[in-house]
Amino acid sequence: MPRLPIATADAACCGPDCGCHDTPAPAATAAADDLAATVRAKYGAAAQRVLDGAASGGCCGPVSSCCGGAAFDGTVDPITTGLYVLGQTDELPEAAVLASLGCGNPTALAELRGGEIVLDLGSGGGIDVLLSARRVGPAGRAYGLDMTDEMLDLARRNAAEAGVTNVEFLKGRIEEIPLPDNAVDVIISNCVINLSGDKRRVIGEAFRVLKPGGRFAVSDVVVQGELPADVKRSMELWVGCVAGALGDGEFASLLRDAGFEDPRVEMTRVYDVDDARAFLVNTGLDVDRVAREVAGRVGAAFVRATKPAAFALREARAGDAAAVERLLDDSGLPVVGVREALGMPASGFVVAEANGAIVGVGGLEDCCDDALLRSVAVRPEWRSRGVGGALVTRLVADAEARGKRALYLLTTTAERYFPSFGFAPVAREAIPEAVRATSEFREACPASAVAMTRPVARHG
Ligand SMILES: C[S@@+](CC[C@H](N)C(=O)[O-])C[C@H]1O[C@@H](n2cnc3c(N)ncnc32)[C@H](O)[C@@H]1O
Repeated sequence: MPRLPIATADAACCGPDCGCHDTPAPAATAAADDLAATVRAKYGAAAQRVLDGAASGGCCGPVSSCCGGAAFDGTVDPITTGLYVLGQTDELPEAAVLASLGCGNPTALAELRGGEIVLDLGSGGGIDVLLSARRVGPAGRAYGLDMTDEMLDLARRNAAEAGVTNVEFLKGRIEEIPLPDNAVDVIISNCVINLSGDKRRVIGEAFRVLKPGGRFAVSDVVVQGELPADVKRSMELWVGCVAGALGDGEFASLLRDAGFEDPRVEMTRVYDVDDARAFLVNTGLDVDRVAREVAGRVGAAFVRATKPAAFALREARAGDAAAVERLLDDSGLPVVGVREALGMPASGFVVAEANGAIVGVGGLEDCCDDALLRSVAVRPEWRSRGVGGALVTRLVADAEARGKRALYLLTTTAERYFPSFGFAPVAREAIPEAVRATSEFREACPASAVAMTRPVARHG
């Protein structure tokens, strides 16, 4: 039985700049390698059973020896059961669904969009890769990464059976992702990071391969508080996705240390005493005592964070006119008056990516005491990377600096987006005359557009 690595989360280490993570001690490396071999053997056996069609023949011994061995042996497993909503897996091969060994549903939570590139760390039988491929569509791509040959065979067979072509399964370890820097839009994973003996490295690798502004959106088992020492030492519970689970605060600090912004850990399922009994079976531990100790403290969580986007927000200039008009036009927004406005000072802001290309725009139109927020547009591939949020926040601050009383806007598509910036719908009759007199109100926007407003802080 391999030794479990000590201080796997490396929470007590000296931070990202010290260099100590680049050269792990040989003993720690050996322990992590042993651990990976044990995990590979367990999950390889689980996949082989599905490949052999022996789905009812049990997973890999005790229920707790895989995350959700019960998915293979018919008993109810508290970790893997009931993760996918009705209908979500209807079009997937039975073997892909049967081999699901996750603890959450990251594709449902990650808000994947058409054209995105997704990477699933520890893709197993491929269920989340196939679901992602469907969500990102033919213009997008979904990669699965796994170190276990049998799992890769199963996943490739499932993809072929599902007739899904925008997928690729890569062999490798999540501690050393075989993709170049800045290659993917979204990293998902389902109950895998807990299995790694070097979680700091996994998260560092995730950061490296994500594009600037890319999202980390992972389901995993997480601990709130401390696990009893005998649970942490149990190899059965390590490969069962419990003993290696990070604390919620620990997960967030590892993400922050790697450079991620806004890490959040939301519990999606907390295991009660009966759930704990189920995963403690055959571990050799005192089931009653340990179940009471861990109940309510271990659960599945959705963990998300963002890699900071590499963009610059600056005041718009007259020379931006052509690019801004193109962006507005492509976004289906009116361009009336924009070229003229760009010739004037403080007319609005643009967001430019590293090569200078304009990927976002937004402006304020003065209406006496108030202002109209107009022409907020972001190129589709830059959406959900903080560009829109940066623009709106800057425009609100600009309105405040100019001493405005309230901001107004009209939207046909984003009435669900603006409330997070304090905007609420408003009846058109309640809008000041000076705002209603603008060309945007009178001509440019359709009557069906929703009018919204928010007070400006100083008046607020
Ligand atoms: C609990 S299963 C989850 C599989 C899949 N995500 C799902 O939801 O069904 C863990 C998977 O991660 C893989 N795995 C575990 N540790 C890994 C590592 N360090 N590098 C690559 N793959 C790993 C295993 O081979 C296995 O397929």
